[in-house]
Amino acid sequence: MNPFYIGTNWKMTKTTKEGTAYSKELAAFSEQLDPALIELFIIPSFPSLVPVKNEINSSQIRLGAQNMHWAERGAYTGEVSPVMLKEIGIDIVELGHSERREYFNENDHDINKKVHAALQYGMKPLVCIGETLEEKENNISVEMLSKQLKVCLKGLEKDQLVNVLIAYEPVWAIGERGIPATPDYVSYIHGEIRVVLTEMYGNEGADVPILFGGSVNHDNYLSYFEDDNVNGLFIGRAAWDVLSFKEILKTCHSKLTSLK
Ligand code: PGA
Repeated sequence: MNPFYIGTNWKMTKTTKEGTAYSKELAAFSEQLDPALIELFIIPSFPSLVPVKNEINSSQIRLGAQNMHWAERGAYTGEVSPVMLKEIGIDIVELGHSERREYFNENDHDINKKVHAALQYGMKPLVCIGETLEEKENNISVEMLSKQLKVCLKGLEKDQLVNVLIAYEPVWAIGERGIPATPDYVSYIHGEIRVVLTEMYGNEGADVPILFGGSVNHDNYLSYFEDDNVNGLFIGRAAWDVLSFKEILKTCHSKLTSLK
């Protein structure tokens, strides 16, 4: 059985002081979790990466960054390179979150370059894909997701797929104004994503973990967790309070323990 991924992107919500306090508590709690069952990760803002790394260093928690430039170095004011993230000991690089696409004009071609750069430096790209409400209402969700996957993963060799993670995050489900997706819809879309990945890469594609995110909360997380097509949960608001996140982790862990 592969571990079930559970992680949180803090977005731009925590100061370093807040982030280190959270990480310290989560690191202590994570000692109760079997890493063979849950792959736990947190994705702080850039200034908190080093202090948070120090808090979680001896724990099983993986550390992610929220974005990255593809170039090793250069005249790119305000950007952070793979070399810099690698030096910190980053495990996961989140790429293509819908907020980056919407507010910072990030596109699938940029994400593709970042995916290659992350892999080259031994970090796992967590590639976020998702359709807008308009695309969903026009019944072109699968086409849009397929296009995103094909461009974002363009040029990858089969053997690189083992280090790739996909997060399906419907744009209409994310954030304060998000509408939670029904478990049936999530299951269906994850199945379709798996079909596309398998068409692209065969068995290697079929094994890529597909996480779900977008208004995952205490009322709905178990319905996604219990679906075989869902390989992980990628949580925003419901995980920003460490007590709330611990509760979700605890329940998922005990359910996974009973399945062992
Ligand atoms: P949310 O955020 O859980 O607060 O909707 C999810 C995300 O943006 O990844």
